[in-house]
Amino acid sequence: MLTHIHHYGFVVRNIDESLGFYRDILGLPVSVDRVIEEQGVRGVLLPIGGNSEIELLEPVSEGTGIARFLETRGEGFHHICFNSTDVSSDLTNAAQKGIQMIDETPRNGLAGLIGFLHPKSNHGVLIEYAQPQEETHTLPNEDALVKAVDHVGIVVEKIETAVQTYTEHFGFGQDDSRGGANQALGIKNAFLKVEDGALEFIEPLTEGGPVAKFANERGEGVFLLSYSVNNLEQAIEHLRLQDVRISDPMGGVAFVHPKSTNGINMQLMMRKES
Ligand code: CO
Repeated sequence: MLTHIHHYGFVVRNIDESLGFYRDILGLPVSVDRVIEEQGVRGVLLPIGGNSEIELLEPVSEGTGIARFLETRGEGFHHICFNSTDVSSDLTNAAQKGIQMIDETPRNGLAGLIGFLHPKSNHGVLIEYAQPQEETHTLPNEDALVKAVDHVGIVVEKIETAVQTYTEHFGFGQDDSRGGANQALGIKNAFLKVEDGALEFIEPLTEGGPVAKFANERGEGVFLLSYSVNNLEQAIEHLRLQDVRISDPMGGVAFVHPKSTNGINMQLMMRKES
């Protein structure tokens, strides 16, 4: 069974430099820092609220999947990982549903026993399943600037199709309290609830704007991560004092320049009242 989003995986050129932002400026602690020789990667996990982590991946040898990704696509978002209570049977279930698989059986990874599902079957998103073999999730830092990943935004051609695909593939339900059309942004969206986190599907309604541009240039795939903060104005001020470029708040959100975030569109929003 899939329970929650275990982590969000980013490919970066140099983890030590990336930690200058994710650990030192955002305040996320490091729980795991390990080189996996057989995969040719160094991986770091940073716990964030909502039972999830940020995973930074840096290639340490040539010719690996992560090295090729960095060469062809550059730094950026790489995969979403769902926590699995039984990765072997979840991978088998996925294959039986006709999902194109990268791993039919689990192997060892940074987050425990893992397996990957092909992005072709999941609207351009590389999906990982992970069954932790040891308790690596430490508590997030209470003082961290960002409290949780509120949602991950995925640009798709048709949100109805994407909602149906993800519901069938993973069993997540639609969150009817969010989503709709936003004429000002030229998009419509829908949310699937995944425990404390959420997947947002975004469909461009107009030709202009960043979402339409992303859809034209990259096709379907992960477009942004939205992090919740306690106080948006204070967060903006804090980041500007550290020389991070961030937009003024617009409609309750602000955008950090991708230069600071290893190429990942990062949105800050006020934490939801719970
Ligand atoms: Co991963």
